[in-house]
Amino acid sequence: MITDLSILTLSLLLLINYPQYTSLYPVQENILIDLRQNQTFPSPTSINTSIWMQQLLPNISHLHLFNLTLPGTHDGASFTLTSALSPDPTGSPVLDALVKLAEKLGIPLQDVITPWALAQSRNLYEQAEDGMRYFDIRAAYNGTDWCSYHFELGLPINTHLNALNSFLLLHPNEIIVIEVSHLASANLTQKNLNELRDMIIKIFNPMLYSRINDFNSTTIGDMIATNQRVIVTLSDDATIENYTQLWYGSSMINSYANTDSLDQMISYNWQQVLQFNSLPSLPTNALYKLSWTLTPQVSTIFDSILPDKPKSLKNLADIGNSGLSGFASTVLQKRWRLCQLLLIDFQERSEIMQWIFASIHQ
Ligand SMILES: *[C@@H]1O[C@H](CO)[C@@H](O)[C@H](O)[C@H]1NC(C)=O
Ligand SMILES: *[C@@H]1O[C@H](CO)[C@@H](O)[C@H](O)[C@H]1NC(C)=O
Ligand SMILES: *[C@@H]1O[C@H](CO)[C@@H](O)[C@H](O)[C@H]1NC(C)=O
Ligand SMILES: *[C@@H]1O[C@H](CO)[C@@H](O)[C@H](O)[C@H]1NC(C)=O
Ligand SMILES: *[C@@H]1O[C@H](CO)[C@@H](O)[C@H](O)[C@H]1NC(C)=O
Ligand SMILES: *[C@@H]1O[C@H](CO)[C@@H](O)[C@H](O)[C@H]1NC(C)=O
Ligand SMILES: *[C@@H]1O[C@H](CO)[C@@H](O)[C@H](O)[C@H]1NC(C)=O
Ligand SMILES: *[C@@H]1O[C@H](CO)[C@@H](O)[C@H](O)[C@H]1NC(C)=O
Repeated sequence: MITDLSILTLSLLLLINYPQYTSLYPVQENILIDLRQNQTFPSPTSINTSIWMQQLLPNISHLHLFNLTLPGTHDGASFTLTSALSPDPTGSPVLDALVKLAEKLGIPLQDVITPWALAQSRNLYEQAEDGMRYFDIRAAYNGTDWCSYHFELGLPINTHLNALNSFLLLHPNEIIVIEVSHLASANLTQKNLNELRDMIIKIFNPMLYSRINDFNSTTIGDMIATNQRVIVTLSDDATIENYTQLWYGSSMINSYANTDSLDQMISYNWQQVLQFNSLPSLPTNALYKLSWTLTPQVSTIFDSILPDKPKSLKNLADIGNSGLSGFASTVLQKRWRLCQLLLIDFQERSEIMQWIFASIHQ
């Protein structure tokens, strides 16, 4: 306990005084080994993941979203992509690397990009059935429609949101959080943004949980009883200024390690968890995310032609997902919280729901 406390204090001091060193502060070697090896699984449960909130209502109805760890998908809508490149004014060195690799290998661009752009296999309805309750949806306007995207364009946003709306209607005791962000376009106009906003409101009304509330003001039980079961953020403040049904982008507090190395991701997320658990008080109008994801770098793309190196985001996610249990088990054994939103790629190839249930049992 004393060691835990001194680690907490030390890292907090470091983070406060030298925020730029967040990712450089090394995790002690013995902790890193434990984090990778402490794979004590919680006892298996017979909970039906489609309706886990309903089945665990006796355990969680008195709590607030503030106090739960909701499972979710990173780049949730990237389960199917077209060959159309997405407009993305920011550019990306990884995309440039993919283009170079396709040229070098003399194969169609799509064949090189798609394996590194698909982040999930299951559609959003299926993800919700698997237990996911947070969805990261990145939207790009292609000139006529808002679509999801990750390097390439995916399905219309309309299709994704309707899938989640159907899930909510058929599962009246489940609550979900949707983050609509990134908003890429070759030429973004206020009219396009207003259309996206109006589409979201039209689909989910009257189930939208308004930002006049916060994440500690209404219990899970009351959110369900009053049918205020979907939280949607739209990351353009001016567009939603007068629309309190939607939440500002800043209500989701993001973090991700931006590395393709499992050890570095573990160290980074360990810091995030330490920081989260040592905050004197959490904001009630925002939720903290922990991203259990590996991110391809330029070198990951070029190395992919070598034997035994990951050839897709799915290969990379399998490496990342293999480390979740050791990490989550260590955090929960210490009676710490993982975070408020736990994000993962290829969620169906992970143990994420076990750890969500274990976190409730705590
Ligand atoms: C889980 O719940 C869903 C929704 O109520 C239901 O359709 C499904 O049959 C259940 N699955 C099992 C294995 O009971
Ligand atoms: C909710 O979370 C806050 C902050 O982590 C904590 O102080 C509080 O005890 C928790 N409440 C419950 C009922 O778990
Ligand atoms: C935008 O995407 C939609 C849905 O995939 C498609 O029907 C439409 O043709 C696309 N528009 C343009 C200009 O490419
Ligand atoms: C962007 O859209 C606006 C409004 O439709 C239009 O006036 C403007 O010419 C467009 N700009 C470009 C670069 O296409
Ligand atoms: C959350 O709500 C509870 C009870 O409603 C209150 O006691 C607690 O102080 C609130 N926490 C924060 C951080 O506002
Ligand atoms: C919000 O409402 C105020 C007051 O009616 C108005 O001045 C402002 O332009 C509106 N903002 C948007 C983005 O529509
Ligand atoms: C890992 O598990 C061992 C045995 O249960 C325990 O002694 C050790 O403290 C754990 N490590 C961490 C970092 O929790
Ligand atoms: C929920 O509460 C019941 C009754 O107290 C308990 O048996 C069960 O283990 C709890 N489930 C979880 C996942 O915490």
